[in-house]
Amino acid sequence: MAFDNLGRKVVLTLAGNRVVTNFVSNHGMKMGAKRFIAGESLEEAAIRVKELNSEGLLVTLDHVGESVSTKEEAIEAANEAMKIFDIIDQNQLNSNVSVKLTQLGLGIDPELCYENLDKIVAKAKKHNNFVRIDIEDSPVTQITIDLFKRVFETYGKEHVGLVVQSYLYRTEKDVDELGKMGASLRFVKGAYKEPKEIAFPLKKDVDSNFNKIVALHLKNGQYSAIASHDENVINETKRFAKENNISNDLFEFQMLYGIRNELQRQLLKEGYKVRVYTPYGKHWYPYFSRRVAERPANALFFAKSLFRS
Ligand code: FDA
Repeated sequence: MAFDNLGRKVVLTLAGNRVVTNFVSNHGMKMGAKRFIAGESLEEAAIRVKELNSEGLLVTLDHVGESVSTKEEAIEAANEAMKIFDIIDQNQLNSNVSVKLTQLGLGIDPELCYENLDKIVAKAKKHNNFVRIDIEDSPVTQITIDLFKRVFETYGKEHVGLVVQSYLYRTEKDVDELGKMGASLRFVKGAYKEPKEIAFPLKKDVDSNFNKIVALHLKNGQYSAIASHDENVINETKRFAKENNISNDLFEFQMLYGIRNELQRQLLKEGYKVRVYTPYGKHWYPYFSRRVAERPANALFFAKSLFRS
Protein backbone atom coordinates (compact mmCIF):
# COMPACT_ATOMS: atom_id res chain seq x y z
CA MET A 1 0.00 0.00 0.00
CA ALA A 2 2.97 2.29 0.52
CA PHE A 3 3.86 1.96 -3.17
CA ASP A 4 1.94 3.75 -5.93
CA ASN A 5 -0.35 1.60 -8.03
CA LEU A 6 1.77 1.70 -11.18
CA GLY A 7 4.95 0.61 -9.37
CA ARG A 8 3.05 -2.14 -7.66
CA LYS A 9 1.61 -3.39 -10.96
CA VAL A 10 5.05 -3.42 -12.62
CA VAL A 11 6.64 -5.41 -9.79
CA LEU A 12 3.79 -7.89 -9.57
CA THR A 13 3.78 -8.36 -13.36
CA LEU A 14 7.56 -8.94 -13.39
CA ALA A 15 7.02 -11.54 -10.67
CA GLY A 16 5.06 -13.56 -13.24
CA ASN A 17 7.95 -13.48 -15.74
CA ARG A 18 9.77 -16.83 -15.93
CA VAL A 19 13.21 -15.43 -16.85
CA VAL A 20 13.14 -12.89 -14.03
CA THR A 21 11.82 -15.52 -11.61
CA ASN A 22 14.56 -18.03 -12.47
CA PHE A 23 17.34 -15.47 -12.20
CA VAL A 24 16.24 -14.04 -8.88
CA SER A 25 15.42 -17.46 -7.43
CA ASN A 26 18.93 -18.70 -8.22
CA HIS A 27 20.82 -15.68 -6.94
CA GLY A 28 18.41 -13.84 -4.68
CA MET A 29 19.32 -15.30 -1.29
CA LYS A 30 22.91 -14.11 -1.76
CA MET A 31 21.57 -10.76 -2.97
CA GLY A 32 19.72 -10.00 0.24
CA ALA A 33 16.41 -11.84 0.13
CA LYS A 34 17.41 -13.53 3.37
CA ARG A 35 16.48 -10.34 5.13
CA PHE A 36 12.85 -11.38 4.47
CA ILE A 37 13.13 -15.20 4.25
CA ALA A 38 14.25 -17.27 7.24
CA GLY A 39 16.05 -19.86 5.10
CA GLU A 40 15.47 -22.31 2.29
CA SER A 41 15.03 -25.27 4.67
CA LEU A 42 12.83 -25.90 7.71
CA GLU A 43 15.92 -26.68 9.79
CA GLU A 44 17.44 -23.25 9.01
CA ALA A 45 14.12 -21.58 9.76
CA ALA A 46 13.87 -23.40 13.13
CA ILE A 47 17.12 -21.73 14.22
CA ARG A 48 15.69 -18.28 13.37
CA VAL A 49 12.46 -19.12 15.21
CA LYS A 50 14.39 -20.13 18.32
CA GLU A 51 16.18 -16.75 18.24
CA LEU A 52 12.90 -14.86 17.86
CA ASN A 53 11.29 -16.88 20.66
CA SER A 54 14.24 -16.15 22.95
CA GLU A 55 13.35 -12.46 22.65
CA GLY A 56 9.72 -13.19 23.56
CA LEU A 57 8.36 -13.01 20.00
CA LEU A 58 5.78 -15.56 18.89
CA VAL A 59 6.02 -16.96 15.37
CA THR A 60 3.89 -18.35 12.58
CA LEU A 61 5.89 -20.46 10.13
CA ASP A 62 5.00 -20.43 6.46
CA HIS A 63 6.45 -22.81 3.89
CA VAL A 64 6.46 -20.44 0.93
CA GLY A 65 5.00 -21.46 -2.39
CA GLU A 66 1.76 -20.68 -4.17
CA SER A 67 -0.47 -22.34 -6.69
CA VAL A 68 0.58 -25.91 -7.50
CA SER A 69 -0.36 -27.70 -10.72
CA THR A 70 -0.34 -31.39 -9.77
CA LYS A 71 -1.95 -33.50 -7.08
CA GLU A 72 1.50 -34.78 -6.04
CA GLU A 73 2.77 -31.22 -5.44
CA ALA A 74 -0.31 -30.43 -3.36
CA ILE A 75 0.18 -33.54 -1.22
CA GLU A 76 3.87 -32.73 -0.85
CA ALA A 77 2.98 -29.21 0.36
CA ALA A 78 0.52 -30.67 2.88
CA ASN A 79 3.15 -33.12 4.14
CA GLU A 80 5.62 -30.27 4.60
CA ALA A 81 3.07 -28.25 6.57
CA MET A 82 2.46 -31.28 8.81
CA LYS A 83 6.19 -31.76 9.30
CA ILE A 84 6.41 -28.22 10.69
CA PHE A 85 4.41 -29.31 13.75
CA ASP A 86 6.93 -32.09 14.45
CA ILE A 87 9.84 -29.65 14.18
CA ILE A 88 8.03 -27.17 16.43
CA ASP A 89 7.64 -29.83 19.13
CA GLN A 90 11.11 -31.32 18.74
CA ASN A 91 12.72 -27.89 19.09
CA GLN A 92 10.20 -26.59 21.63
CA LEU A 93 9.38 -23.62 19.44
CA ASN A 94 6.59 -21.18 20.17
CA SER A 95 5.08 -21.12 16.71
CA ASN A 96 1.97 -22.00 14.79
CA VAL A 97 1.64 -22.57 11.03
CA SER A 98 0.23 -20.51 8.15
CA VAL A 99 -0.90 -22.13 4.89
CA LYS A 100 -2.14 -21.02 1.48
CA LEU A 101 -4.94 -23.06 -0.06
CA THR A 102 -3.69 -22.78 -3.65
CA GLN A 103 -0.56 -24.53 -2.42
CA LEU A 104 -2.74 -27.36 -1.14
CA GLY A 105 -4.39 -27.90 -4.52
CA LEU A 106 -7.30 -25.44 -4.52
CA GLY A 107 -6.75 -24.67 -8.22
CA ILE A 108 -6.78 -28.38 -9.13
CA ASP A 109 -9.73 -29.64 -7.10
CA PRO A 110 -11.29 -28.03 -4.02
CA GLU A 111 -11.98 -31.49 -2.52
CA LEU A 112 -8.31 -32.40 -2.77
CA CYS A 113 -7.51 -29.10 -1.09
CA TYR A 114 -10.06 -29.78 1.64
CA GLU A 115 -8.59 -33.23 2.33
CA ASN A 116 -5.10 -31.73 2.60
CA LEU A 117 -6.31 -28.92 4.84
CA ASP A 118 -8.22 -31.34 7.05
CA LYS A 119 -5.07 -33.47 7.51
CA ILE A 120 -3.04 -30.40 8.48
CA VAL A 121 -5.59 -29.10 10.98
CA ALA A 122 -5.96 -32.62 12.45
CA LYS A 123 -2.20 -32.66 12.92
CA ALA A 124 -2.36 -29.21 14.55
CA LYS A 125 -4.99 -30.52 16.96
CA LYS A 126 -2.86 -33.55 17.81
CA HIS A 127 0.00 -31.18 18.68
CA ASN A 128 -2.31 -28.77 20.48
CA ASN A 129 -1.40 -26.14 17.92
CA PHE A 130 -3.05 -23.88 15.36
CA VAL A 131 -3.27 -23.31 11.59
CA ARG A 132 -3.93 -19.89 10.08
CA ILE A 133 -5.31 -19.96 6.53
CA ASP A 134 -3.79 -17.08 4.54
CA ILE A 135 -6.07 -15.30 2.11
CA GLU A 136 -5.07 -14.96 -1.53
CA ASP A 137 -6.50 -13.04 -4.49
CA SER A 138 -10.20 -12.41 -5.04
CA PRO A 139 -11.05 -15.33 -7.39
CA VAL A 140 -10.46 -17.66 -4.42
CA THR A 141 -11.89 -15.56 -1.57
CA GLN A 142 -15.27 -17.28 -1.37
CA ILE A 143 -13.98 -20.83 -1.73
CA THR A 144 -11.32 -20.11 0.93
CA ILE A 145 -14.01 -18.95 3.34
CA ASP A 146 -16.16 -22.00 2.52
CA LEU A 147 -13.32 -24.44 3.16
CA PHE A 148 -12.39 -22.59 6.34
CA LYS A 149 -15.95 -23.02 7.61
CA ARG A 150 -15.83 -26.76 6.96
CA VAL A 151 -12.65 -27.34 8.97
CA PHE A 152 -13.76 -24.84 11.61
CA GLU A 153 -16.86 -26.94 12.24
CA THR A 154 -14.72 -29.98 12.93
CA TYR A 155 -11.81 -28.44 14.84
CA GLY A 156 -12.98 -25.10 16.25
CA LYS A 157 -11.27 -21.78 16.87
CA GLU A 158 -8.48 -23.28 19.00
CA HIS A 159 -7.01 -25.04 15.97
CA VAL A 160 -7.88 -23.05 12.85
CA GLY A 161 -8.31 -19.39 11.90
CA LEU A 162 -8.61 -17.28 8.78
CA VAL A 163 -7.23 -14.04 7.30
CA VAL A 164 -9.38 -11.19 5.94
CA GLN A 165 -8.35 -8.22 3.76
CA SER A 166 -9.53 -4.68 4.51
CA TYR A 167 -9.19 -3.61 0.85
CA LEU A 168 -12.19 -5.73 -0.21
CA TYR A 169 -15.65 -4.17 0.04
CA ARG A 170 -17.13 -7.53 1.04
CA THR A 171 -14.93 -7.99 4.12
CA GLU A 172 -17.03 -6.06 6.62
CA LYS A 173 -19.92 -8.47 6.00
CA ASP A 174 -17.57 -11.47 6.15
CA VAL A 175 -16.15 -10.30 9.49
CA ASP A 176 -19.62 -9.89 10.90
CA GLU A 177 -20.58 -13.41 9.84
CA LEU A 178 -17.28 -15.04 10.88
CA GLY A 179 -17.43 -13.16 14.19
CA LYS A 180 -20.83 -14.68 14.95
CA MET A 181 -19.26 -18.12 14.42
CA GLY A 182 -16.51 -17.21 16.93
CA ALA A 183 -13.67 -17.37 14.40
CA SER A 184 -10.17 -16.13 15.18
CA LEU A 185 -9.20 -13.69 12.42
CA ARG A 186 -6.00 -12.10 11.17
CA PHE A 187 -6.61 -8.66 9.67
CA VAL A 188 -4.46 -7.48 6.75
CA LYS A 189 -4.83 -4.68 4.21
CA GLY A 190 -4.35 -7.04 1.23
CA ALA A 191 -1.36 -7.74 -0.98
CA TYR A 192 -2.75 -8.49 -4.46
CA LYS A 193 -3.75 -6.43 -7.52
CA GLU A 194 -7.53 -6.07 -7.30
CA PRO A 195 -9.96 -4.08 -9.50
CA LYS A 196 -11.78 -1.06 -8.08
CA GLU A 197 -15.11 -2.82 -8.60
CA ILE A 198 -14.35 -5.06 -5.64
CA ALA A 199 -11.61 -3.29 -3.66
CA PHE A 200 -11.08 0.22 -2.27
CA PRO A 201 -8.66 1.94 -4.62
CA LEU A 202 -7.53 4.55 -2.07
CA LYS A 203 -5.18 3.77 0.82
CA LYS A 204 -7.11 6.00 3.19
CA ASP A 205 -10.25 3.92 2.66
CA VAL A 206 -8.36 0.64 3.07
CA ASP A 207 -6.90 1.97 6.33
CA SER A 208 -10.18 3.22 7.74
CA ASN A 209 -11.91 -0.03 6.82
CA PHE A 210 -9.07 -1.87 8.59
CA ASN A 211 -9.79 0.03 11.82
CA LYS A 212 -13.53 -0.48 11.40
CA ILE A 213 -13.41 -4.28 10.97
CA VAL A 214 -10.85 -4.79 13.76
CA ALA A 215 -13.08 -2.78 16.11
CA LEU A 216 -16.11 -4.82 15.03
CA HIS A 217 -14.41 -8.13 15.77
CA LEU A 218 -12.91 -7.00 19.09
CA LYS A 219 -16.22 -5.54 20.21
CA ASN A 220 -17.78 -8.93 19.47
CA GLY A 221 -15.22 -10.42 21.89
CA GLN A 222 -13.39 -12.38 19.19
CA TYR A 223 -9.66 -13.03 18.93
CA SER A 224 -7.99 -10.64 16.50
CA ALA A 225 -4.52 -10.58 14.98
CA ILE A 226 -3.63 -7.11 13.77
CA ALA A 227 -1.17 -7.83 10.96
CA SER A 228 0.29 -4.54 9.82
CA HIS A 229 3.46 -2.47 9.97
CA ASP A 230 1.42 0.72 9.92
CA GLU A 231 1.79 2.62 13.20
CA ASN A 232 -1.49 4.44 12.62
CA VAL A 233 -3.59 1.28 12.60
CA ILE A 234 -1.51 -0.24 15.41
CA ASN A 235 -2.04 2.85 17.58
CA GLU A 236 -5.72 2.87 16.76
CA THR A 237 -6.04 -0.73 17.98
CA LYS A 238 -4.22 0.15 21.19
CA ARG A 239 -6.47 3.15 21.74
CA PHE A 240 -9.65 1.22 20.96
CA ALA A 241 -8.67 -1.65 23.28
CA LYS A 242 -7.90 0.74 26.17
CA GLU A 243 -11.08 2.73 25.70
CA ASN A 244 -13.23 -0.40 25.64
CA ASN A 245 -11.40 -2.32 28.39
CA ILE A 246 -10.38 -5.04 25.97
CA SER A 247 -7.71 -7.27 27.46
CA ASN A 248 -4.33 -7.60 25.72
CA ASP A 249 -5.03 -11.34 25.68
CA LEU A 250 -7.79 -10.89 23.11
CA PHE A 251 -5.48 -9.66 20.38
CA GLU A 252 -1.95 -9.79 19.06
CA PHE A 253 0.09 -7.77 16.64
CA GLN A 254 1.70 -9.54 13.72
CA MET A 255 4.44 -8.41 11.38
CA LEU A 256 6.47 -10.01 8.64
CA TYR A 257 9.94 -11.40 9.28
CA GLY A 258 12.55 -8.71 8.76
CA ILE A 259 10.11 -5.80 8.57
CA ARG A 260 9.94 -3.06 11.23
CA ASN A 261 12.04 -5.09 13.66
CA GLU A 262 12.31 -2.24 16.18
CA LEU A 263 8.56 -1.71 16.22
CA GLN A 264 8.06 -5.44 16.90
CA ARG A 265 10.36 -5.20 19.94
CA GLN A 266 8.83 -1.94 21.13
CA LEU A 267 5.30 -3.43 21.18
CA LEU A 268 6.65 -6.40 23.09
CA LYS A 269 8.16 -4.08 25.70
CA GLU A 270 4.81 -2.32 26.03
CA GLY A 271 3.28 -5.67 27.04
CA TYR A 272 1.56 -6.67 23.79
CA LYS A 273 1.77 -10.07 22.14
CA VAL A 274 3.72 -9.91 18.89
CA ARG A 275 3.92 -12.69 16.32
CA VAL A 276 6.39 -12.74 13.44
CA TYR A 277 5.22 -14.31 10.17
CA THR A 278 8.31 -16.28 9.23
CA PRO A 279 8.52 -17.63 5.68
CA TYR A 280 11.01 -20.27 4.58
CA GLY A 281 11.48 -22.51 1.55
CA LYS A 282 13.00 -22.61 -1.89
CA HIS A 283 10.08 -20.98 -3.76
CA TRP A 284 10.25 -17.64 -2.00
CA TYR A 285 10.20 -15.37 -5.04
CA PRO A 286 6.44 -14.54 -5.33
CA TYR A 287 6.36 -13.77 -1.58
CA PHE A 288 9.43 -11.60 -1.93
CA SER A 289 7.95 -9.74 -4.94
CA ARG A 290 4.90 -8.73 -2.93
CA ARG A 291 7.17 -7.26 -0.25
CA VAL A 292 9.02 -5.26 -2.92
CA ALA A 293 5.73 -4.12 -4.47
CA GLU A 294 4.68 -2.77 -1.07
CA ARG A 295 7.79 -0.72 -0.61
CA PRO A 296 10.21 0.61 -3.24
CA ALA A 297 12.98 0.88 -0.62
CA ASN A 298 13.05 -2.92 -0.56
CA ALA A 299 13.80 -2.94 -4.29
CA LEU A 300 16.60 -0.41 -3.79
CA PHE A 301 18.03 -2.49 -0.94
CA PHE A 302 17.91 -5.56 -3.18
CA ALA A 303 19.43 -3.74 -6.16
CA LYS A 304 22.33 -2.43 -4.01
CA SER A 305 23.05 -5.98 -2.81
CA LEU A 306 23.03 -7.12 -6.45
CA PHE A 307 25.74 -4.60 -7.36
CA ARG A 308 27.78 -5.50 -4.27
CA SER A 309 27.66 -9.26 -5.02
P1 FDA B 1 1.23 -0.13 4.67
O1 FDA B 1 1.45 -0.77 3.35
O2 FDA B 1 0.33 1.04 4.77
O3 FDA B 1 2.62 0.21 5.28
C1 FDA B 1 2.79 0.95 6.48
C2 FDA B 1 4.27 1.11 6.76
O4 FDA B 1 4.82 -0.18 7.06
C3 FDA B 1 5.10 1.58 5.57
O5 FDA B 1 5.11 2.97 5.47
C4 FDA B 1 6.44 0.99 5.89
O6 FDA B 1 7.09 1.78 6.87
C5 FDA B 1 6.10 -0.33 6.49
N1 FDA B 1 6.05 -1.39 5.48
C6 FDA B 1 4.95 -1.92 4.91
N2 FDA B 1 5.29 -2.91 4.05
C7 FDA B 1 6.61 -2.99 4.08
C8 FDA B 1 7.56 -3.80 3.41
N3 FDA B 1 7.20 -4.74 2.54
N4 FDA B 1 8.87 -3.58 3.68
C9 FDA B 1 9.26 -2.64 4.55
N5 FDA B 1 8.42 -1.83 5.22
C10 FDA B 1 7.11 -2.01 4.98
N6 FDA B 1 -1.81 -10.13 2.62
C11 FDA B 1 -2.74 -10.92 2.02
O7 FDA B 1 -3.32 -10.50 1.01
N7 FDA B 1 -3.05 -12.15 2.54
C12 FDA B 1 -2.47 -12.64 3.67
O8 FDA B 1 -2.79 -13.74 4.11
C13 FDA B 1 -1.49 -11.82 4.32
N8 FDA B 1 -0.86 -12.22 5.45
C14 FDA B 1 -0.06 -11.33 6.15
C15 FDA B 1 0.45 -11.68 7.39
C16 FDA B 1 1.16 -10.73 8.13
C17 FDA B 1 1.68 -11.13 9.50
C18 FDA B 1 1.37 -9.42 7.63
C19 FDA B 1 2.10 -8.38 8.42
C20 FDA B 1 0.91 -9.11 6.37
C21 FDA B 1 0.22 -10.04 5.62
N9 FDA B 1 -0.26 -9.71 4.35
C22 FDA B 1 -1.18 -10.56 3.75
C23 FDA B 1 0.24 -8.52 3.64
C24 FDA B 1 -0.66 -7.32 3.84
O9 FDA B 1 -1.86 -7.50 3.13
C25 FDA B 1 0.02 -6.02 3.34
O10 FDA B 1 0.28 -6.15 1.97
C26 FDA B 1 1.33 -5.69 4.04
O11 FDA B 1 1.28 -6.00 5.41
C27 FDA B 1 1.62 -4.16 3.90
O12 FDA B 1 0.64 -3.42 4.50
P2 FDA B 1 0.77 -2.72 5.96
O13 FDA B 1 -0.46 -3.07 6.71
O14 FDA B 1 2.02 -3.13 6.62
O15 FDA B 1 0.66 -1.19 5.73
